[in-house]
Amino acid sequence: MPHEVQGVVARAKGEPVTLETVLVPDPGPGEALVAVQACGVCHTDLHYREGGINDEFPFLLGHEAAGVVEAVGSGVTEVSPGDFVVLNWRAVCGTCRACRRGRPWYCFATHNATQRMTLADGTALSPALGIGAFAEKTLVAAGQCTRVDPEAPATAAGLLGCGVMAGFGAAVNTGGVGRGDSVAVIGCGGVGNAAVAGSRMAGATTVVAVDVDPRKLEWARRLGATHVVDARTEDVVERIRELTGGFGADVVVDAVGRPETYEQAFYARDLAGTVVLVGVPTPGVPIELPLIDVFGRGGALKSSWYGDCLPSRDFPMLVDLYRQGRFDLDAFVSETIGIGDVEEAFAKMERGEVLRSVVVL
Ligand SMILES: NC(=O)c1ccc[n+]([C@@H]2O[C@H](COP(=O)([O-])OP(=O)(O)OC[C@H]3O[C@@H](n4cnc5c(N)ncnc54)[C@H](O)[C@@H]3O)[C@@H](O)[C@H]2O)c1
Ligand SMILES: [Zn+2]
Ligand SMILES: [Zn+2]
Repeated sequence: MPHEVQGVVARAKGEPVTLETVLVPDPGPGEALVAVQACGVCHTDLHYREGGINDEFPFLLGHEAAGVVEAVGSGVTEVSPGDFVVLNWRAVCGTCRACRRGRPWYCFATHNATQRMTLADGTALSPALGIGAFAEKTLVAAGQCTRVDPEAPATAAGLLGCGVMAGFGAAVNTGGVGRGDSVAVIGCGGVGNAAVAGSRMAGATTVVAVDVDPRKLEWARRLGATHVVDARTEDVVERIRELTGGFGADVVVDAVGRPETYEQAFYARDLAGTVVLVGVPTPGVPIELPLIDVFGRGGALKSSWYGDCLPSRDFPMLVDLYRQGRFDLDAFVSETIGIGDVEEAFAKMERGEVLRSVVVL
């Protein structure tokens, strides 16, 4: 018998999300049924609602979650009922080309394995990032469950499932930030501020936070920024150069993903520095850069998908840092909300009032 739960569904492009009855089947081979305890509202959920990811409506939104495994299907050895887990959208398969070549952080083989949840009338749902966790229960591939220390509250641990991991990893894994580096982060929402915190933890001595909203810059200071730049009133490239001895930053993270922020990131780097694009651009939007500058400035222009993370390596490590008081995940939780409040949380996100609204189930 399928489980009947409430879930947050985006039925059509640009339409407000609605709370719907969702049917969640029992886990089949290789699957796990998870009772979701908390799920953060990420900007990518809004991208789904806007049709910016793909057109496979209706979507069951939510993908930044922690919960408890309720049941597992046959052949599942990774997790058992009762385990406290963070859900991931990179269930490393070990057999795809990326995995076989020793680059499992590029594995996308199984993250869309579970598309068996439906609306009450049988309409198939596309779970956001293969997860669909704005629901009391969700069905995922067992590899999408990463066990972490159950002493961590679900509101904090769940954030590692997407935005915080993406931002932290964009700086530390993709950007390779290390001791003594200078870093600038453009766009300090949940993702950008995790890049700020990650840079600080990795030993960067200058961490410049850039945003158009003073509230975000306040939070950035709390999470480890050494300097802040208000992009509404200051010249971003000039200020980053000034704050880095006239050179530009070793690593610039673009956590917005617009042509103007990418261009700022490109020119705010030191020669041979690295740009990391982690913000998701709107499809079809071009950028124009003089090719001679791409050549002449050297360095690396990278994109970061999920912070090049390995969930089984990185989630428990970040939970340990949290438990030791060295990574303030609670600072990202601006408010806890109910499952019926996601549309309002999107509006708050757009007004810049929150780092993360977290649905508690
Ligand atoms: N690559 C990945 O794996 C991955 C994972 C999660 C999220 N994302 C993407 O990262 C981006 C950020 O996500 P979020 O949840 O932090 O969103 P958010 O809306 O909370 O944060 C975006 C921030 O950018 C700021 N901003 C907007 N325009 C700006 C400008 N011109 N200059 C400076 N700052 C500006 C906003 O004020 C806000 O603080 C989104 O595009 C999201 O889809 C990517
Ligand atoms: Zn793989
Ligand atoms: Zn996300």
